[in-house]
Amino acid sequence: MIMEEIYEITDAPKIIVAIDGYSSSGKSTMARELAKRVGYIYIDSGAMYRAVTLYAMRNGMINPDGSVNVEALIPKLSDIYVDFEPVAHEDGVQHTLLNGEDVEKEIRSLEVSNHVSPIAVIPEVRERMVAIQQEFGREKGIVMDGRDIGTTVFPDAELKVFVVAGLHERARRRWRELTQKGLDIRFEEVYENVAERDRIDTTREVSPLTKAEDAYELDNGAITHEEQMEWLMRLFQQTIEKLENEG
Ligand code: DC
Repeated sequence: MIMEEIYEITDAPKIIVAIDGYSSSGKSTMARELAKRVGYIYIDSGAMYRAVTLYAMRNGMINPDGSVNVEALIPKLSDIYVDFEPVAHEDGVQHTLLNGEDVEKEIRSLEVSNHVSPIAVIPEVRERMVAIQQEFGREKGIVMDGRDIGTTVFPDAELKVFVVAGLHERARRRWRELTQKGLDIRFEEVYENVAERDRIDTTREVSPLTKAEDAYELDNGAITHEEQMEWLMRLFQQTIEKLENEG
């Protein structure tokens, strides 16, 4: 019997898995696959900040100098709802919905990538997104990836993982991803974007990217995808077994 079936049919306790790390560290791929294998819901919290960014872009809330018109955005936050399609597409991705509209393709554009960090530093934006994320996790049985999941969104998550990989390797992955999608883009431009996002993500005042004290660290630079998944599945099983023994 394969693993996903085991978790779906047994009444093993459901947990929250928080996977944080730098952009393009490969954490989303790992998180999505773990969720699939164990029959959990997967939430890409970065997609939520990207959706808010798209909303701001569409509604003229990005100033010509690239800064955000915060006064215009904040009163609109309660009108913004970000959700995910319940069923994954052929590529395994559950598309992101902005007030019901499928915006998956648009939120992955370089333009959104370039504007998302200044949106994600706004405390009111974070407050709204964290509230939605916590609602998603109310029933547990969820894998969520992002920057502050193990520290702020679910500080009591039963399993926390922090993924690291070198900047050059992450930029290379991101460049390959974008060019495979047909984008004509120079590696240097992608490298600059990833480096700048690292800088903003780690230095912002509210919920900067940091490793939770009780997170397991994975250096994702030099290992294969299969090795990553083996490592993650082992941790997941150990966490469940520990809970079962305690309960
Ligand atoms: O993971 P990503 O590259 O799609 O994330 C997009 C942006 O959102 C990135 O600049 C960091 C920010 N983000 C965040 O601040 N907190 C999260 N939990 C997830 C993403």
